[in-house]
Amino acid sequence: MKKIGVLTSGGDSPGMNAAIRAAVRTAYTDEIAVVGIRRGYSGLLDEEFIDMDYSSVGGIMEKGGTVLRSSRCEEFRTEEGRAKAADLLRSNGIDALVVIGGEGSLNGAKLLMDENGIPVIGLPGTIDNDIAMTDMCIGVDTCLNTCVETIQKLKDTASSHERAFVVEVMGRNSGYVALASGMAVGAEAIIVPELPVDYEAIAEKIWNERKRGKINCIIVVAEGASSAYTVARHVEHRIGYETRITILGHIQRGGSPTAFDRVLASRMGYASVKALEEGKAGMMMSLNGGKIKGIPLEEVLSHKKELDMELMEMAKILS
Ligand code: F6P
Repeated sequence: MKKIGVLTSGGDSPGMNAAIRAAVRTAYTDEIAVVGIRRGYSGLLDEEFIDMDYSSVGGIMEKGGTVLRSSRCEEFRTEEGRAKAADLLRSNGIDALVVIGGEGSLNGAKLLMDENGIPVIGLPGTIDNDIAMTDMCIGVDTCLNTCVETIQKLKDTASSHERAFVVEVMGRNSGYVALASGMAVGAEAIIVPELPVDYEAIAEKIWNERKRGKINCIIVVAEGASSAYTVARHVEHRIGYETRITILGHIQRGGSPTAFDRVLASRMGYASVKALEEGKAGMMMSLNGGKIKGIPLEEVLSHKKELDMELMEMAKILS
């Protein structure tokens, strides 16, 4: 293997730059050339290639976003698009590809390999933490810290005015971000897509706590379960608080990565190049019981990540 390509695809997540840096520097040390592919699969199809070396990734680890930029590419969803991408990789002498992104991006990488024989390694990069067979994805920890910092601020003003805040967080179809951030701020209710919403029970619990003397209330709702507006409409007249709404939105995707995300992304980026050097491909690097392991993409993509229901129960008891 003489040359590898690296790209970031789909929704960006904090820590992607640390993964790029690690892949580039590991390859550089092992005398493998690296081409950075800009704008994900779109840039691959447009041949937006840049040579990268040791110094070109200096100072990027602490940056949010992705220096390679990202996109969601319709053309790459087609077999013809992927065949074109494979031809372009071959004609540019790129022997293998490291793809950093979410489930859709990893699925694209798998199809590129299955249909065209391009060796790929995937790294799970998404704030949603919805990829199976890895404990954590790159960017989740930073996202959670952003949520906690922001909701904590809302709690301050909620207490001053004796109000309830309904906070909508991202996560696509997963309730992980809502559950973990809600638990970390001691939210009075957490609404996730994995469980049916019982507005009656939520309103009753909050009203009872209000009667007992609570002066603020935080309800965290995952975007995949409902919207903050719908939740507020259902509960605001029954909980004894004036209610306000906050949608955290894309603020959750930005910011300098936490130490956890920097280390995780560095370990995964390093492992991706080492795996390719050992002739492995069609795998995702995953965090598994503290260790970085290569798991076949086939296995990863055929499983659904389950929400930890014990944690959900615990959050309810502790709030
Ligand atoms: O997958 C990451 C994510 O931020 C989801 O949580 C969210 O649903 C989606 O991407 C938003 O996508 P876009 O940035 O295209 O609006």
